[in-house]
Amino acid sequence: MTSAFQFPDNFLWGCATSAYQIEGSPLADGAGPSTWHRFSHTPGMTHNGDTGDIACDHYRRMEEDVRMMSDLGLNAYRFSISWGRVLPEGVGKINEKGLDFYDRLVDRLLEHRITPMATLFHWDLPEALDNRGGWLNPCIAGWFAEYARVCFARLDDRVELWATLNEPWVVTDGGYLHGALAPGHRNLFETPIAGHNLLRAHGRAVEVYREQGKHRIGIVVNIEPKVPASDSPEDREAAERAHVYMNRQYLDPIFHGRYPEGLKAIFGEAWPEWPSGDFELIRRPIDFVGLNYYTRSVVRHDASQYPLKASPVHMPHSTYTETGWEVCPQALTDALIWLKDECGNPAVYITENGSAFYDPPVAEGNRLDDPLRQGYLRKHLRAAYAALKAGVDLRGYFAWSLLDNLEWSHGFSKRFGLIHVDFTTRERTLKGSAELYRRIIASNGSVLNET
Ligand code: BGC
Repeated sequence: MTSAFQFPDNFLWGCATSAYQIEGSPLADGAGPSTWHRFSHTPGMTHNGDTGDIACDHYRRMEEDVRMMSDLGLNAYRFSISWGRVLPEGVGKINEKGLDFYDRLVDRLLEHRITPMATLFHWDLPEALDNRGGWLNPCIAGWFAEYARVCFARLDDRVELWATLNEPWVVTDGGYLHGALAPGHRNLFETPIAGHNLLRAHGRAVEVYREQGKHRIGIVVNIEPKVPASDSPEDREAAERAHVYMNRQYLDPIFHGRYPEGLKAIFGEAWPEWPSGDFELIRRPIDFVGLNYYTRSVVRHDASQYPLKASPVHMPHSTYTETGWEVCPQALTDALIWLKDECGNPAVYITENGSAFYDPPVAEGNRLDDPLRQGYLRKHLRAAYAALKAGVDLRGYFAWSLLDNLEWSHGFSKRFGLIHVDFTTRERTLKGSAELYRRIIASNGSVLNET
């Protein structure tokens, strides 16, 4: 028997974006540069030398973009605030014009009955703070608290959902261990320190929110179920290491007040002792978890891989997206159920889920068709629904992404948008997936019954 796919009445149907990936005008109106501005302007760091200087030009086209969201029927939108627009030096002097932009965005969203979810940090750290050590400097927890306080004071009267950090694991693995993301370091010793300071900063922001906030605050993590490539003890242990490193490193301290067993062994001599008092701060109760899900990973033991001694295995019968990620909707259900069981059934939003596939060029007057992305969307929403039926407290789904945008070091070469952006003219065109999403939203899910 087919399921009815009726989502709860108050379910949030949204799209997600982040500041540096869409806004453009990174230095406008007094904003201070970020690590991503510096990184993308460093030769060789991004595909084709692409930068966020214009990106989707959302900073100047915000009203048009909100109208498109409304036209799709979205009742929620997840965006991030650029720290350097609000505090150009990261701390100290407030740049009112930067805050004004988010103020106007929130007002426009509410006019269209779209619930805003604001993320405080989606990777674009003010360069001025990076020059003082960035995530390696323990003072950053206080700097982040100061920034959070400014954002809450200005926007919490209207923003009901706040996320402290986006994917701290990616910040440290990409930014401090492998160097593919800003600030581009490659240092095993720095990695756990950056991770710990991200957690302390998260805890401080939650603390500030409890003093002055009126609504709800959580964190966004990326979860990727890890499956051993074989039954051999070596592969099983490799999958467990990968799971501890990626999926538990940030959630365990927040929900259980300690790092997961096995993490210290992964970092070896690079693992410091942490002041035990830090965990009281880190484990301050949060109101929800934002889960970003894209793929699972089949893992085998591989002694040459540093420091995990594990590497991913290609599954010959699976479909892969253009970012090389296996399409596996079942693993979304598994990730949601794992989160429910591990973290005491928290309220959860799927804060990102989406796919980069090749989109044929826009033919004038024609709709841009993207059947692979449509299939991905449909299957993952069915998988999300299965988790809901299994008792997961799932409150909303945010497709990644509203617009094709700057896919970090891949530049504009990977398109995740439901809306196509021509990166010469910045013209927006709905893709078939946007129209499918509109129908899904309008039917509160029941369109998913169609094959
Ligand atoms: C990030 C997004 C990114 C997406 C696709 C997530 O890791 O939060 O900023 O564009 O994945 O790679």
